[in-house]
Amino acid sequence: MAILKILQYPDERLHTVAAPVNAVTDRTRTLIQNMAETMYAAPGIGLAATQVDVHERIIVIDISEARDQLHVFINPEIISHNGDLEYEEGCLSVPGIYGKVRRAESVTVSALNTEGKPFTLEASGLMAICIQHEMDHLEGKVFVEYWSAFKQSRVLAKLKKKQRSTM
Ligand code: NI
Repeated sequence: MAILKILQYPDERLHTVAAPVNAVTDRTRTLIQNMAETMYAAPGIGLAATQVDVHERIIVIDISEARDQLHVFINPEIISHNGDLEYEEGCLSVPGIYGKVRRAESVTVSALNTEGKPFTLEASGLMAICIQHEMDHLEGKVFVEYWSAFKQSRVLAKLKKKQRSTM
């Protein structure tokens, strides 16, 4: 296993639209293991392949306290959604920045598992938020891009300042 490098906003590669996985192979499973290891090490509760510069439709999520409930979604699709909820989000690609995004309160997702078998999952609350946030990455969208141009420019300034201070 390996810890992968996480792209940092505003890296243009974060705006790549990911391609569907045509076949779930050992190569896919190795990538998923590495993504999970990278997410746990960060630490974070979700990671999309886009964030490690692999532009395939794969996301991993673990919102459990014990960090022992890994969810893997290959080619995820939201087949229904309900309600709405505002939640303070963060992202491993935008370190130190947190803010609210309005999303569906619950979603039903269909995807393939690591064996390539289809499944559906009903999720609500944090799990639903996380699925939507990670699926946005596959479309090349980062959560701060829901905010106003003014707020986004402040985010960029803050990130730039942080980069300078760590040099
Ligand atoms: Ni993210």
